[in-house]
Parts: sequence; C-alpha cells; structure tokens
Amino acid sequence: MNFKDYIRVIEDFPQPGIRFKDITTLLQNGPVYKEAINYLAELVKDQQIDLIAGPEARGFVVGAPLAYALGVGFVPIRKSGKLPGKTIEADYSLEYGKDKLAVHDDAIKPGQRVLIADDLLATGGTIQTCVSLIEQLGGEVIGSAFMIELTYLNGREKLPAGKNIYTMIQY
Ligand code: PRP
Repeated sequence: MNFKDYIRVIEDFPQPGIRFKDITTLLQNGPVYKEAINYLAELVKDQQIDLIAGPEARGFVVGAPLAYALGVGFVPIRKSGKLPGKTIEADYSLEYGKDKLAVHDDAIKPGQRVLIADDLLATGGTIQTCVSLIEQLGGEVIGSAFMIELTYLNGREKLPAGKNIYTMIQY
C-alpha cells in the first residue's frame, strides 16, 4: 500500500510557506486507516510496550487505535487546562507557534515502557516535550511512532539517542 497516495497536501496552511500534510483523507478511508494502524502495530509489536502515549489532538487518532491493536493502555498528553486530575506540564515550540502540554501525574508508573505515537514528526518539539513529561513520571520511553516524518526539519535529531523511531511515510 502506498500510504502517501491517501495524504492530502494543502499549501500555505496554517500560514504562508507551510505545506500542511492532511491525514484526514487517509482517516476517512476505513480500510486504509486500518492498514496504516496495523502497519505501525507490526513495526512495534516486539517492543514489550506497556503504554502508548499520544499528544492532542492528532496523536489521539494514531495512538489510541495503535494501543487498541496492541492491547495496551493509552495515555493522552493534552494541551494545558484540559485534564481534570493533577498534572505535570511543560512548554514547547512547534513548527508554527507555541503551546503547553500536560499529563496526569499518575498516568505512568515508574519503569513502565512507553511508546509515543503521533501523526507527524516535524521539528520534534512536541515529541521532545512528551519524552520529558513521561521521563519526569519515571516512564521509560522506548521510542516513537509516526504516520509521517518531515525529514527536512530534522526532528529526529531532537529525540534522545538510542530511541527507536518508527515511521510509515517520509517527505
Ligand atoms: C502537530 C502534529 C504533531 C506536531 C508536530 O500537532 O500533530 O503533534 O504538530 O510538530 P513538531 O514535530 O514540530 O512538534 P499540533 O500541535 O498542530 O496540534 P493538533 O494535533 O491539535 O492539530
């Protein structure tokens, strides 16, 4: 399956110069969405994962079905102010803009093996922040999985050395 055929590229969104990789065209195709999740699940299935963590919002549409496919739990990493329980938070910068991410402070137990899942690796700022939050809780980040990697932004250089990076499509 050539997954790239199902990703729509939208010019100048959300601001001039950005070529937005729109996964909604893949998500709306049931068999392709399923095959994409199964593809990622196959890549990571031997990693003895305890939990998948995914950043809001698009990390949920990859991370939650991946967790379901692997039969492990899912931890949402949300934008600040959304989670009801006690959280830890961290600031981060994006390819465009700035934000704050939060996770419940009891979501991950020390020593649990966590895979981060998201739709896209761009500058790596989001994943770097997720790694920091998970490690603050004592979780062991075993790697990260993405539908898309924008290789020209060198996001993988921001990820700690020795962590696995699983990608489905590269631009
Ligand atoms: C997008 C995308 C990744 C992140 C990648 O999310 O879903 O999470 O940016 O960029 P980075 O590697 O430069 O950090 P966004 O923050 O736009 O939020 P959304 O999923 O709620 O649209």
